[in-house]
Amino acid sequence: MKKSTRRPVIPSDAGPGATSLHGKLALITGATQGIGLALAQSLAAEGCGLILCARDRKRLSEAESELSRKQIPVRALSCDVRDEKSVASMFAAVCKRFSHLDILINSAGIAHPFRSIVELETQEWNQVLATNLTGTFLVTRSALPLMSRGSSIVNVLSMSSKRAFPNLAAYTASKFGALGLTNALREELRSQGIRVIAALPGRQKSAIAWGVVAWLIPVIALFVITPRMSGSGRKRLRRI
Ligand SMILES: NC(=O)c1ccc[n+]([C@@H]2O[C@H](COP(=O)([O-])OP(=O)(O)OC[C@H]3O[C@@H](n4cnc5c(N)ncnc54)[C@H](OP(=O)(O)O)[C@@H]3O)[C@@H](O)[C@H]2O)c1
Repeated sequence: MKKSTRRPVIPSDAGPGATSLHGKLALITGATQGIGLALAQSLAAEGCGLILCARDRKRLSEAESELSRKQIPVRALSCDVRDEKSVASMFAAVCKRFSHLDILINSAGIAHPFRSIVELETQEWNQVLATNLTGTFLVTRSALPLMSRGSSIVNVLSMSSKRAFPNLAAYTASKFGALGLTNALREELRSQGIRVIAALPGRQKSAIAWGVVAWLIPVIALFVITPRMSGSGRKRLRRI
């Protein structure tokens, strides 16, 4: 049977159950539900400290309480990733307590109702682009001064980053753009030893997101464990 090349080969010491994320710190946007929350739960189970970001304070506080039970440092910060000032104030709060960030996961994202381009409102277009593309840029730009060799950035993109679907123009444009940003970032940060990963999940119910994203955890662990990687390893990972 032909072997799939879509998934990276994970060394045995970075497989599920590895404790290499213990004591690391991750900032996750969109961390109060869906994929972001599922990743937060998975990282918490590995002993990774968390900074949770989203807008809704009530859901943030619920997520913070739940994750704090894992005996890891958890800080929930309300932030609108579309807003430069909001992002700056979140990072001001981060810098007061932490001096280093090991993992950044950009998962905050929105979609829009199925609409033809003719029906698409300018406001819908702007909101989707501002959240999915500009938000990823703003958060990453502020996070980078806290990141160093061996750190990892994971951008939660979509199948829509590579494949266009009708009636989803703003979402598709935002995700194609976010993949371009991710690829440019990867080239820019390669010499600094900061990993940049594009995760392209397919359509799913967010309630079952954990099952879909669980494979990301050993990938993140791999990056934290191996700050330097051979050329062939890098090639495999770029296919994610
Ligand atoms: N679910 C899918 O089928 C699917 C498939 C492929 C890719 N994706 C991508 O995966 C990512 C997560 O999707 P999901 O299904 O987990 O979404 P979700 O369940 O709707 O959760 C979105 C999260 O993002 C936060 N968020 C939204 N706008 C924000 C903003 N302006 N500033 C800060 N936080 C914001 C939300 O909290 P607040 O509302 O409180 O801010 C929430 O925590 C998105 O980028 C999405 O495009 C999803």
